Amino acid sequence: MRNSGRPLKPLNVFGIMLRVKMNDDEQFFNTTHTIEGLAGMREFAGRMAGLLRGRGAVIALHGDLGAGKTTFVQGLAAALGVSRPVTSPTFTLVGEYPLPGGGLLVHMDLYRLRPGTDLDSIGFDEYVNSGAIVAIEWAERAKDVLPPSTIHLHFDPVPDDDSRRLARFDQT
Ligand SMILES: Nc1ncnc2c1ncn2[C@@H]1O[C@H](COP(=O)(O)OP(=O)(O)OP(=O)(O)O)[C@@H](O)[C@H]1O
Ligand SMILES: [Mg+2]
Repeated sequence: MRNSGRPLKPLNVFGIMLRVKMNDDEQFFNTTHTIEGLAGMREFAGRMAGLLRGRGAVIALHGDLGAGKTTFVQGLAAALGVSRPVTSPTFTLVGEYPLPGGGLLVHMDLYRLRPGTDLDSIGFDEYVNSGAIVAIEWAERAKDVLPPSTIHLHFDPVPDDDSRRLARFDQT
């Protein structure tokens, strides 16, 4: 039987799907997430990896010592298919993790960046403009050179609960 009703408009259908998807993303970025333990952090990082959809991004990670920044990067790496363990890049300040199927995860930890050290010496601009996913701990130390598109992700403690963290996206 022929379809005698209104013809389908694939473009409109696609548009609606796209809007729904964007709303999902918006909601994710506008929510304060309560992260329960390491499994919760893995899940949160996995959702974030999914939202990147294979695109590059600069993610500035904020939060005190022990807030969960490295744990987040470990979860992100796992979700992106990295099998090598992610450890804090102490001396070089930068760790590179090639992604299966192409692309690169770059993990920077600027905690030990000595005052006055030129970020050029670690190839900061090249990494940030390379199309890689660049996750930066202690990103405040590079605040003047972060691109405007940087995603700022903050981890906060939960009082009297060491296994939970709050994660929020704030453009500062
Ligand atoms: N929900 C949670 N999310 C993340 N880490 C958690 C959570 N619950 C407990 N932890 C523990 O908190 C610690 C977080 O350490 P992590 O190295 O990720 O912090 P960091 O922000 O990178 O600190 P630093 O500034 O010293 O590099 C780990 O020991 C981890 O096991
Ligand atoms: Mg760390």
